[in-house]
Amino acid sequence: MLLFYSAQIGSIAGMQKAIDKDPKMLHASEVFCGQSALHLAAASPISNDASGAVHWLLEKGVPWSVKDHAGFIPEDSARKIGRNEEVQKLLREWALQEEYEFYSKPIQEEGHQDTAEPAVMIRFDGDRKNKLFCKRADILYTIPHGAPDDELALIYLPNGAGIMMEWERPIMRESARLLLEGMPKSGLRILNIGFGLGMIDSYFQDAKPAEHDIIEGHPGSLGFMRHKGWYDRPGVRVLEERWQKYFSESWPPPDLDAEDAKRPFNIGKFDIVYFDTFQEGYSGHFSFIKHVPRLLRDQNSRFSYFNGHWAKQETAYEIYAEVQRLHHHDLGMNTKWSKVYIDKKEMWDNIFDRGKGVQQDYPHLIPICALAPTVPRMFVPGVGWRPYSDEEVTEDVDVTLEASALCIIKDGTILQAFVSMSDSAGKNFSPSLGLLPPRELEFSDKEKGLFNIGEFDWPTDRLTNLRKKKNAKSVTNSTIPPTVAQLL
Ligand SMILES: C[S@@+](CC[C@H](N)C(=O)[O-])C[C@H]1O[C@@H](n2cnc3c(N)ncnc32)[C@H](O)[C@@H]1O
Repeated sequence: MLLFYSAQIGSIAGMQKAIDKDPKMLHASEVFCGQSALHLAAASPISNDASGAVHWLLEKGVPWSVKDHAGFIPEDSARKIGRNEEVQKLLREWALQEEYEFYSKPIQEEGHQDTAEPAVMIRFDGDRKNKLFCKRADILYTIPHGAPDDELALIYLPNGAGIMMEWERPIMRESARLLLEGMPKSGLRILNIGFGLGMIDSYFQDAKPAEHDIIEGHPGSLGFMRHKGWYDRPGVRVLEERWQKYFSESWPPPDLDAEDAKRPFNIGKFDIVYFDTFQEGYSGHFSFIKHVPRLLRDQNSRFSYFNGHWAKQETAYEIYAEVQRLHHHDLGMNTKWSKVYIDKKEMWDNIFDRGKGVQQDYPHLIPICALAPTVPRMFVPGVGWRPYSDEEVTEDVDVTLEASALCIIKDGTILQAFVSMSDSAGKNFSPSLGLLPPRELEFSDKEKGLFNIGEFDWPTDRLTNLRKKKNAKSVTNSTIPPTVAQLL
C-alpha cells in the first residue's frame, strides 16, 4: 500500500522505502482495478511530481506495457484519467526507445528470455518457436463450428487457435489492393511468405503475375497447396521450407544439410513482397525485414505484411507501429499505414468462439513500405502521438456508478481510501481511482469489520470523461453513495 500511495503523491522516497521493505511490491497491482504503481503514478491528479515518479518506476523495471484488469496500460491512465500530456509523452518515448533498441541486441540477452517475471513483457525467441512450429505442430484445415461451408480456417491444433481465419479476408483483400495498385500489367514479380489459406495469393493471381513465388514452411500447408493445384498454376513456384533457409544472414547456416546448402541465397528481386507467418513474434519479423531492401526490384516496388504486433492492446499497437516505422526507416524504407475496420462480431478467437475474446474495436493497420525516397514520408493515420479526444463516443449505456474502496486506517481514522468505480453490472468499464481526505472511521457493522466511507465528491471532470467516453444516457450520481469497504 505504501508503494501505491507514494506513487500517487509522487514521493520517490516513499516508493523507495516500500520496495526496500518488499522488492516484490514493484510488480504488484492493487486488487480492485489491477493497477500497478506505474498506472497510479501516471494517473494521479494530486502528485507533486508525476513525471519524476513515472520515470523512477520505469527505471526500476516496471514495464511500460503492464496491463490493469481492463487491459489498460499506464499511458492510457495518463491520458484518460490523469490528463497529463507530459507523462503520456514520457511513457510513449520510453516505450519507443526500449522496443526500438531491444531488437538491435542479441535475442538471448539476459532478462529477455521466455521466462520473464509475470508483470514483465514476455519476449520469446521467435526463431526457435517458429522452427518447432514448422517441424512438429499439428495443424488442420477445417470449417469452424457453426460457420458456413465455404468458410475455411487453418487451425493450430494444440489449442484450437486460428492460424488463419475467414474474418481476416478484408485485411488480405485490402493489402493485395494496396500492393497491386498502379503496378505494371505485365512482367509482375511477386514473392509471398506464408501460404495459410492462400487468400492473398489468390488476389495476387488475379493480377496474372509473370512470376509468383510462395515460400511455405509447414508440411501440412504444403500438402493443402498441392491438393488445391497451386504447384501447377502458371508462374507459380512453391519454395518449400521455412523462409529462414532462403534468407540466412550467413549462408549457408551451420545447421543446413548439404542439399539445402545448394539453394541459391539470392532468389531474385520482386515488385511485391508480402510476409505473413505464424509463431514468430516481432523478433521473427525483425529478422525478416533486414532482407527486404535487397528483395525489392526498384523504388516502385512494395513490401507489406500482416501487422499483428501487440494488436490486442490499442495503445501498444500504436507504439509498435511506430517501432516498425523506425526500423523500416533504418533499413532505408518508408512506411505508409492504412486502416481496415473489422466487424468484431465476425472475428473468431478460436475454432469455437466467434466474436468472443478478440476485443479489437479499433482499426487494423496495414503497412506499405517502399525504398526511400520514392514514397515521401507521410502522415501516419492513427499512429504516433495522438492526444486523447473527449469526443470518442463508443457506446450508448445507462450508467449507474458504484464505488468500492480499499482503505488505510490508523487509530480510528481513515488515512487513505483508494476508490474504484464500476457500472451497475459490476463491469469495471473505466477503472478510476480517487483519494479521500482523512476522516473518522464510522462502522456500519463493527463485528464484520465493515464501515462506511461516506459521501464524497467525485471530481466532475472524471464523470464528464466517463459520460463522453461511454455516451452515458444517465449518470445516477455525481456524488458517490456511501459505500462499504473492507477493513484491512
Ligand atoms: C497466417 S498464415 C498466412 C495466411 C496468408 N497470408 C493468407 O492470405 O491466407 C501463416 C502461414 O505461414 C506459414 N509459416 C509459418 N512459419 C513460416 C516460415 N518460417 N517460413 C515459411 N512459412 C511459414 C504457416 O505454415 C502458414 O501456412
